[in-house]
Amino acid sequence: MDKVKVLDHPLIQHKLAFIRDERTGVKEFRELVEEVSLLMAYEVTRDLSLEATEVKTPIGTALGQVISGKKLGVIAILRAGLGMVNGILKLIPHAKVGHIGLFRDPQTLSPVQYYFKVPADIHERDLILVDPMLATGGSTSLALTMLKERRAKSIKVMCLIAAPEGIARVREKHPEVEIYTAAVDERLNDHGYIVPGLGDAGDRLFGTR
Ligand code: PRP
Ligand code: URA
Repeated sequence: MDKVKVLDHPLIQHKLAFIRDERTGVKEFRELVEEVSLLMAYEVTRDLSLEATEVKTPIGTALGQVISGKKLGVIAILRAGLGMVNGILKLIPHAKVGHIGLFRDPQTLSPVQYYFKVPADIHERDLILVDPMLATGGSTSLALTMLKERRAKSIKVMCLIAAPEGIARVREKHPEVEIYTAAVDERLNDHGYIVPGLGDAGDRLFGTR
């Protein structure tokens, strides 16, 4: 699928299996989501550009490479996107973090906005938009639209599990945006949940129901 990258690294797939497992409790679920997010961030940042530098070692001078002054931002869709932020920040600790509050109306499945706060300079930043679940794609599509309205420079989407319906929606509305996911599942059920999925990501992360 054009612009959809399924990250099939064995460590990511191994941890995802435990994340999906209904017997996995809140503490382990949270830790695993953080770990998988760190591993996925490694792939999502693969094309960052480098510039040459010289480093004085105790013995001599080494030619090295450092990331070329890129400004990065991580944007979490609340609530469940929060669970992915710390893992990414372990790899890119200077990234700024934004939050977009959205919840799905249980009847219409349409996203309802309740919060928006992102770095003022997102037009200069490469953004990673994070949310574990891409179900109907309504939340991610709306978040992308909001970021583009504020002239975001570039945006990649990172999720744990995507449904074909959600991928199609994002591809239709935002064809240039790359989607990084650990899995593409079968379908949505009548309540808009991903099958087999992992259940309600926010509830499993925060122990609510
Ligand atoms: C979940 C999930 C996504 C959204 C995905 O959030 O974390 O944000 O649903 O569904 P969609 O692709 O059909 O829009 P939810 O609305 O349950 O809010 P929460 O994270 O606060 O629990
Ligand atoms: N939101 C979730 O948390 N899980 C799903 O399967 C779909 C939407």
